[in-house]
Amino acid sequence: MYYLLYPKRTYLIVSGKGNKRNVMAADWLMPLSDKPFLVGVAISPKNFSYQLISENKEFVISVPTLEMLDDVWIVGRNHGPEKLKETKLTFVPSVKIETPGIKEAAANLECKVIDTKKYGNYTFFVGEVIHYTYNKEIFPNNRPDVKKAKFLAHSSWAEFVVNAEKLYSKG
Ligand SMILES: Cc1cc2nc3c(=O)[nH]c(=O)nc-3n(C[C@H](O)[C@H](O)[C@H](O)COP(=O)(O)O)c2cc1C
Repeated sequence: MYYLLYPKRTYLIVSGKGNKRNVMAADWLMPLSDKPFLVGVAISPKNFSYQLISENKEFVISVPTLEMLDDVWIVGRNHGPEKLKETKLTFVPSVKIETPGIKEAAANLECKVIDTKKYGNYTFFVGEVIHYTYNKEIFPNNRPDVKKAKFLAHSSWAEFVVNAEKLYSKG
């Protein structure tokens, strides 16, 4: 009943390099440290992305918005790079690693795997974010502008929600 912890933000994980590149959807992702900037993601070994990340020891976290939902659903429901032909996703070279980012994404965080540990039937990859690029209109002053972008969160199975535009400010 992991849906008791939902809604959770949905991200895209890009893996691989050269002509062997892949994208999957991932909800089970969280920041772990800010200095250094570390992020962990739990990935099932049944996923093709698991093999590519294990092989290359790097991945990119791409931040999708509502406009990308159709493609998020395609890459989150199908295995292997063939599925990418059905999407409108465009790869862009990363700055510090060989795994590319996604042009349409609000941000791309380039990660080097620094630790891998199996927990139950998933494997937790800890990535150090060694570089990031982002859309300055969506993240002015390094913060998300929730009026500019609708960030995707997964509610359950085939249902998604986005952030409301209203801010409840405490300061
Ligand atoms: C919204 C959404 C979130 C998902 N989150 C995860 C996740 O956190 N970890 C995971 O291993 N799979 C997750 N999946 C499933 C993978 O994205 C799915 O198995 C995908 O087909 C794997 O692709 P690949 O085999 O090409 O790597 C999620 C799927 C969806 C639709």
